[in-house]
Amino acid sequence: MKREAAYQTDNGAATPRCVVVDLGTRSYDILIGPGLVDEAGTEIARRLPGIRAAVVTDETVAGLHLDRLSIALRAAGIDHSTIVLPAGETTKSFAHLTQVVDEVLAQRLERDDAVIALGGGVIGDLAGFASAIVRRGMRFVQMPTTLLAQVDSSVGGKTGINSPRGKNLVGAFHQPSLVLADTALLDTLSPREFAAGYAEIVKYGLIDRPDFFDWLDRNCEAVFAGGPERADAIRQSCKAKAVVVAADERENAGRALLNLGHTFGHALEAAVGYDSRRLVHGEGVAIGMTLAYRFSTERGLCPAEDADRGEAHLRAAGLPTRIGEIPGAPLTTAQLMAGIAQDKKVKRGRPTFILTRGIGRAFLEGDVAPAAVEAFLDREIAR
Ligand code: NAD
Ligand code: GLY
Repeated sequence: MKREAAYQTDNGAATPRCVVVDLGTRSYDILIGPGLVDEAGTEIARRLPGIRAAVVTDETVAGLHLDRLSIALRAAGIDHSTIVLPAGETTKSFAHLTQVVDEVLAQRLERDDAVIALGGGVIGDLAGFASAIVRRGMRFVQMPTTLLAQVDSSVGGKTGINSPRGKNLVGAFHQPSLVLADTALLDTLSPREFAAGYAEIVKYGLIDRPDFFDWLDRNCEAVFAGGPERADAIRQSCKAKAVVVAADERENAGRALLNLGHTFGHALEAAVGYDSRRLVHGEGVAIGMTLAYRFSTERGLCPAEDADRGEAHLRAAGLPTRIGEIPGAPLTTAQLMAGIAQDKKVKRGRPTFILTRGIGRAFLEGDVAPAAVEAFLDREIAR
C-alpha cells in the first residue's frame, strides 16, 4: 500500500484546504474548511457546469443547514429540488432508497446531473447508492455534516444500505465528483455524535499511523474544542483514507484494514437493530476496535499495554469500549456470531479479522477459528 508521511499539510493540491483522491480520470477534490456550504454553488458549478441537482438530506440537517445550501446553489444557477428523509440509521433501507430513486427519476434528472448528499454517513451512503443505480450511474457530490462523514464515509465511494440480515450488505462502489466538508457545520453536532466521529479518526492511528495516534493523544482535547487541531485532524484523516483508496479502490487488499473494529462493530449494530438510542456507528467502531486489540492480545500478538492505551484514549474521548456498556437488553454471543457470519469479508465461510501487533500495526487475518471468537465474546460480554 502507498504510504505517505503523516504530517504533510498538503498532498500536492492547489491549496492546503484541498486533499485529492487520486483515481486517474475519476480523481476528485475533498475541500475542507469553514463556510464551504456558502461556496457550494460556485465549487460545484465550476466542476460540473450546467447541472441540475437533487439535494438529499435528513430532517435534522434540513432544519439547520439546508436553506443556506439552497441559497448558494441558486446563486450559482443550479436548479435543484430537495428530498428530506428521517434522521437515523434505519433510514439506510430499501424503502428510503426506493423513495430517493423515484423522486430523482420523477424530476427527470439525467446521468450528467447530480445527487447532492447533505448529511452524515447515513445520507451519504444512501444518496450515493441511489446515484450509483439511477440511469446506471449519475454524478454525486458529498457534503458531509458529521465528523464521521467528514473523516471517513464521504471519501472513497463506498455507498449502500443495510439489510435486515446485516449492515451495509447491499451497495456499490461509486465515487463522488467532489466532497465539500464545511467544518463549521460541526458546531451544531451533539457531543455524542462528535465523539462517535472521533472514533474513526483514532482508527487511522490505530491501523498504521502510530505517529498520528501519538499526536491525537496529545491533542484530543484541542480537537474536541475546535480550532486548528480539529481541522488538522480532519485533513490528516482524509489524507490517510485518500492514500488507501487510491491504492485499493475496490478493497481487494489493503483497504480492508479500514474496517478495523468493524467486524465486531457491525455485529453490535445489527444486534441492537440499528437503534441509535442504544448504539451509533462510531460507538460500535470504538467498542469493536477495543475488542480487536484485546483479541489480538489474547492471541499473543499485541502487547497488553498497547491494547490498554488504545482503550484509555477512546474512553478519555467519551466513547464506550465494552459490550456491557450498550444500554438495553444484554447482547448474546449467539447474536454477535450471527452478525459476524454476515460480514462482507467472510471468505469461503471464514471471517477475516483485522488484528494487530500493536498501535499502528494492524493486519488482515483470515485464519481465525470461530470457536476462538465465540469464547472471546463470552468473556467480553461478562466483562
Ligand atoms: P448519521 O448520518 O445518522 O448522523 C448522525 C446524526 O447526526 C443524525 O441524527 C443526523 O441527523 C445528525 N446530524 C448530521 N449532521 C448534523 C449537524 N451538522 N448538526 C446536527 N446534527 C447533525 O450518522 P453518521 O455517524 O454520520 O454516519 C454513520 C453511517 O456512516 C453508518 O451507516 C455507517 O455504516 C456509515 N459509514 C460509511 C462509510 C463509507 O465508507 N461509506 C464509512 C464509515 C461509516
Ligand atoms: N470505511 C471503510 C472504507 O471506506 O473502506
